[in-house]
Amino acid sequence: MSASNPQILFVDDEPNMLEMFGRMIERETDGWRGHYCASAEEAMTAVAASEFDAIVSDIRMPGKDGFELLAALRSSERAQRIPVIILTGDCDNRLKQKALELGATDLLNKPVNRDEFFARVRSALKLKFYEDQQSEQIGILDQMVRERTRELEAAHQEVVWRLAKACEYRDDETGNHVVRVACYSRLLAQGLGMDQDFVDLVFLVSPLHDIGKIGIPDSILLKEGKLTPQERTVIERHTVIGREMLSGNPKAVAACGLTDIAHLFQAGGPSRNPIIGMASLVAQGHHERWDGRGYPQGLAGEAIPLAARIVALADVYDALLSKRPYKPAFSQEKSEGIIQEESGHQFDPAVVTAFFEHVDAMRAVKDQFPEPSRG
Ligand SMILES: [Fe+2]
Ligand SMILES: [Fe+2]
Repeated sequence: MSASNPQILFVDDEPNMLEMFGRMIERETDGWRGHYCASAEEAMTAVAASEFDAIVSDIRMPGKDGFELLAALRSSERAQRIPVIILTGDCDNRLKQKALELGATDLLNKPVNRDEFFARVRSALKLKFYEDQQSEQIGILDQMVRERTRELEAAHQEVVWRLAKACEYRDDETGNHVVRVACYSRLLAQGLGMDQDFVDLVFLVSPLHDIGKIGIPDSILLKEGKLTPQERTVIERHTVIGREMLSGNPKAVAACGLTDIAHLFQAGGPSRNPIIGMASLVAQGHHERWDGRGYPQGLAGEAIPLAARIVALADVYDALLSKRPYKPAFSQEKSEGIIQEESGHQFDPAVVTAFFEHVDAMRAVKDQFPEPSRG
């Protein structure tokens, strides 16, 4: 809308009335633009095609009447904010009441008094102008908030991926492992019918599943031969170290003098930040087994957080398909066979079902993110 050239739609079946409105605005305003319709139907067509700043409508018209026009305008997304002034007879109190109930902005008595006409239309235009300004401001703020949120999300993602990358440097064998685990986990979460927030979160945090390996000595982490039982116990601690890294210990944080961030950590529990909270559950739980024979807690079934059950399968599937110091890369058939055999033992049967329902997409991930060739 333009404040100086408001577009006003007049709706009346009497040509004399339309002419009178036309004459009044032509003679007495500078720049108001009149549009004239002889029926409610014609007015709805005009409203669908053009922008108006106010509508002045009669009630009694052949075909649809002014009330029906008003109801149609108020239920139309496009037109619901246009102020509508309804023309009523001086003593039609019932009709006035009905018009206001249906959402009329204002009423104008018939016969039309010139001063009253201009006063009513001016105030309707002012209302429309302020509402337009307000919704424009809201739109700008909305856009700003969305952009800031996108930036923050991108920053979160970048930090998480770089952290996962940092961890990869410790463990030379992994290559694109964490990227594939993230993609597999996303497919499995989608296959399980989880909502988009959960799917995005699993995708984001799954690269951090082995972050706790940062705390394992090189002599054990990079050892080529068979691990002793003691060394195995040390390796298994990467789950607990991962959880501790991601949940934090408020006392330790406070002891470092970082009292201003100590409140970010709940005593002994996961972070309040949903990303770090889920990352912590996954770091701790991705070696648990459905049958309860996993580590570090020996949790079974649904006591294991779902995100950890998802990442557990994604992680093992990728390890099966990849060459590791202790095994060659297995074929798709062999790897899928092992996943199937482990349903209800190592893996949640529901996650295995989701895996086979999306097996083509799962297979495609390996081609999309192959192991970089080592020179
Ligand atoms: Fe692990
Ligand atoms: Fe892994």
